[in-house]
Amino acid sequence: MQITFATGNPNKIIEVKEVLPSNIQITGLRDIGCTEEIPETSPTIEGNAIQKAQYVYDHYGVNCFSEDTGLEVEALGGEPGVNTARYAGEDKDPRANIQLTLKKLSGIKNRKARFKTVIALILDGKIHTFEGIVEGTITEKPLGDGGFGYDPIFRPNGYDRTFAELGMDVKKEISHRSRAVQKLVRFLEKNVGA
Ligand code: IMP
Repeated sequence: MQITFATGNPNKIIEVKEVLPSNIQITGLRDIGCTEEIPETSPTIEGNAIQKAQYVYDHYGVNCFSEDTGLEVEALGGEPGVNTARYAGEDKDPRANIQLTLKKLSGIKNRKARFKTVIALILDGKIHTFEGIVEGTITEKPLGDGGFGYDPIFRPNGYDRTFAELGMDVKKEISHRSRAVQKLVRFLEKNVGA
């Protein structure tokens, strides 16, 4: 089957493709003629995922899914959460976001954090959501140059290196995103016979 992945983030496309079986193919936003920025104004991660998928379904009439991801740091009361992309400002600069997170955690012993991804699927007008979570800790400084976003400061539980050091092979198995995509795949295989 073919389904549109409503994202403009090439890193997300690469990671999702790593997990999808070959019988599920992704169409990009450009392929359906969508080049505008999709609104993302909900106060929750789940709400943003649904908003993005609903926008594409309403404007382009295609079955689609979107995803929204947030980093939740325990000692910061769940921040940056829904503000993960714009934590240090509107320009969504990953290095500035990392520096701000490390600054806020400076001197704090509790480094527990988790990544949460919510995928919203719209199939024939009906919404289905799938959540993926990975627990871990925030390092004292950025380490590694793989991955993207906050990967250089996130060390998943059970590993002694960051996602940026571990790279795709590990992210593909245990990341928040891959866990959510695995649930999506199981749903599509059961309900659409993908
Ligand atoms: P959004 O889901 O596109 O709104 O992205 C939220 C923010 O989380 C952005 O700053 C991304 O760089 C960051 N982010 C999303 N997924 C990951 C990931 O897998 N690792 C590290 N950072 C991520």
